[in-house]
Amino acid sequence: EKVVLAYSGGLDTTAIIPWLKETFDYEVICCCINVGQGEELNGLEERAKMSGASKLYIEDIVDEFCEDYIVPCVQANAIYENKYLLGTSMARPGIAKKLVEIARKENAVAICHGATGKGNDQIRFELGIKALAPDIKIIAPWRMTDVWKMQSRQDEIDFCKAHGIDLPFSADSSYSRDRNLWHISHEGLELEDPSLEPNYNHVLVLTTPPEKAPDKPEYVTMTFEKGVPTSVNGKEMKVADIIRTLNELGGKHGIGIVDIVENRVVGMKSRGVYETPGGTILMEAHQQLEELVLDRATAEVKKEMGNKLAQVCYEGKWFTPLREAIQAFVESTQEYVTGEVKFKLYKGNIIKAGTTSPYSLYSESLASFTTGDLYDHHDADGFITLFGLPLKVRAMKMAEVANK
Ligand code: ARG
Ligand code: SIN
Repeated sequence: EKVVLAYSGGLDTTAIIPWLKETFDYEVICCCINVGQGEELNGLEERAKMSGASKLYIEDIVDEFCEDYIVPCVQANAIYENKYLLGTSMARPGIAKKLVEIARKENAVAICHGATGKGNDQIRFELGIKALAPDIKIIAPWRMTDVWKMQSRQDEIDFCKAHGIDLPFSADSSYSRDRNLWHISHEGLELEDPSLEPNYNHVLVLTTPPEKAPDKPEYVTMTFEKGVPTSVNGKEMKVADIIRTLNELGGKHGIGIVDIVENRVVGMKSRGVYETPGGTILMEAHQQLEELVLDRATAEVKKEMGNKLAQVCYEGKWFTPLREAIQAFVESTQEYVTGEVKFKLYKGNIIKAGTTSPYSLYSESLASFTTGDLYDHHDADGFITLFGLPLKVRAMKMAEVANK
């Protein structure tokens, strides 16, 4: 029987290969899914085979990640607990989907992942798999404490060595990181104590600390069509390339560093640092455009929907009717989110430098202090009388009661 293993090439998932063979006698099909994690993919084939996997799939889903997950979240302005741009959360359902696809192709009976029993990722992988393939068995070694005995990196290295796998893994642990096209997350080490300042010289991978960013600001322009990003600095590109370009620019200027104590689904608070340089710029630009284009009432409801989508995504409930319904609502608000946004980037700051849209609802003649045709100052008299009526009625009643 076959098992499909979500394989990253790191020590944890490498040790799982011989463990799966030994514990369950499974044939192990490794599957590494490229969501833009970059250099982490080097030397994978050799590593998987040496560890006893019968096959390694490397699947590039970067464009799908952009179109099906990132763009809907940008359009919804989905941000978890006011800060986290959901980089890891958004990538998990796409990974689960690919794992299921390969499990089907290989006729595998189970899917295995290396997420721990304390985190969010286990939930996201497993809810995704359940929604798409309810019959497939899920194996989470870290929760199987009766058969998974490895408690440290050294244990895993020893286990690998005992099974003839001699790879240059280091025993001392670094931050727990998760990288993709949209972001990189850092947890662990000194970050586990919220009273401590992060050691940014060690932590940061995609960005420069703002104080070390260039003294000269840099402009960037972006265009959107119906809420989809279409170009950067006048060059049309697919979304993945737009994010890559903005990552470069944002990283250079120290944009998009977040330090948060967040509430995990499993109940604990957890401290993390996230770098989302390009994503931060892109989301801010999209929001900037919506300010001009969306009417107030729609924007209000959309904000609630965006927060809801953030929660749904964070909790791993991507393949649900609720997510589909929220996304449909958001999509219908994007019809006129077309235009251009210009920003100035400077030492961690995004400074607005002008926004235009053919569908802008902003009217200079309406807003300016000189009276135009559309607006007669006298109209405000009656408006305020009615708008203030409930307040006035209540105040009169209170005075009456007080005088009794
Ligand atoms: N706390 C973040 C989240 O829940 C990041 C998780 C990072 N995952 C990882 N395997 N290092 O989305
Ligand atoms: C893990 O525990 O596997 C990583 C952190 C998380 O999933 O929240």
